[in-house]
Amino acid sequence: MRTTTARAYPNIALVKYWGKADEELILPAAGSLSLTLDHFETTTTVVPAPDAETDVLELDGALADAGQTDRISTFLDHVRDLAGRDDRVLVRSRNSVPTGAGLASSASGFAALATAAAAAFDLDLAPRDLSRLARRGSGSACRSIPDGIAVWHAGDDASSFAETVPAPDMRMIIVTVNRARKAVSSREAMRLTAATSPFYSGWVSSTEDYLEQMVAACAAGDFTRIGEITESHALRMHGLIQSTVPPIRFLNPTSHAIFDAVAEARESGIEAYSTADAGPNVAVIVRPHDAEALAEKLSGFGDVRVVGPGPGAHLLTAADAVP
Ligand code: DP6
Repeated sequence: MRTTTARAYPNIALVKYWGKADEELILPAAGSLSLTLDHFETTTTVVPAPDAETDVLELDGALADAGQTDRISTFLDHVRDLAGRDDRVLVRSRNSVPTGAGLASSASGFAALATAAAAAFDLDLAPRDLSRLARRGSGSACRSIPDGIAVWHAGDDASSFAETVPAPDMRMIIVTVNRARKAVSSREAMRLTAATSPFYSGWVSSTEDYLEQMVAACAAGDFTRIGEITESHALRMHGLIQSTVPPIRFLNPTSHAIFDAVAEARESGIEAYSTADAGPNVAVIVRPHDAEALAEKLSGFGDVRVVGPGPGAHLLTAADAVP
């Protein structure tokens, strides 16, 4: 074993993942497609601790709570199984975004941890197998293993991984409305949706349909169609989530105002489309040459950052280890 450090970036889905076909293997009910960002990275160092009895997790310099530590320990058990070893490790992770606020920090977190842990345990995994491994930590993390725009295939354990697909260049404007940790986790809210929403089966079949159209629109470089599907699919997801019992609402009045402002910008000739994950923050896709002007227009709603397609998860050198 050796000490390793990896970096990964969050991804924002344009066709969302919301619902599982298998809770333990984290297989999605339908495929999804996302853009991995070039900002808001997570850097994670895995240090072998052969004499320790438990794994230890340090998040942003502080010891993590039992819930977070258990979750990474369960993930590391899977890595240990693959490696045929039982060594415990110390994991030091640093996020450049607030954890749990709907900015996909679990995606960058588990993509970085999977990459660092696989190397620490000397597993030599092909990219698709590293994506499958990251999936076991958090479903959306499998899409932060490849670069740029990635499709995550639904399927069985062997066939459910993410890979890059051809797509036109674009920018994303992240409007951070609220940095607080969300009240309900995506995992819990997904479970509640499958268990209580009367619209769930329609959601799954319409997601499959949209994903097929989205992959075709990406291959054709059709930004308008990419945007239309992105915004429509996000609104369908939030409608679905509001239909749970009891209802959950992730969007707040500011989020809705941003969707409206983006629709207005479209009327005035800046073509852009909104999406939002399980939280109030909004991500807006736009053509590269319109990004700065639109970011300026949206700056009254919150912290605004223009980001582009980013690299997949990768190992760093020892000099970059998280202290
Ligand atoms: C709304 O990947 O965090 O961001 O697999 O249970 O860990 P688990 O869920 P997670 O869910 C992400 C949900 C989403 C949509 C998406 O990223 O596709």
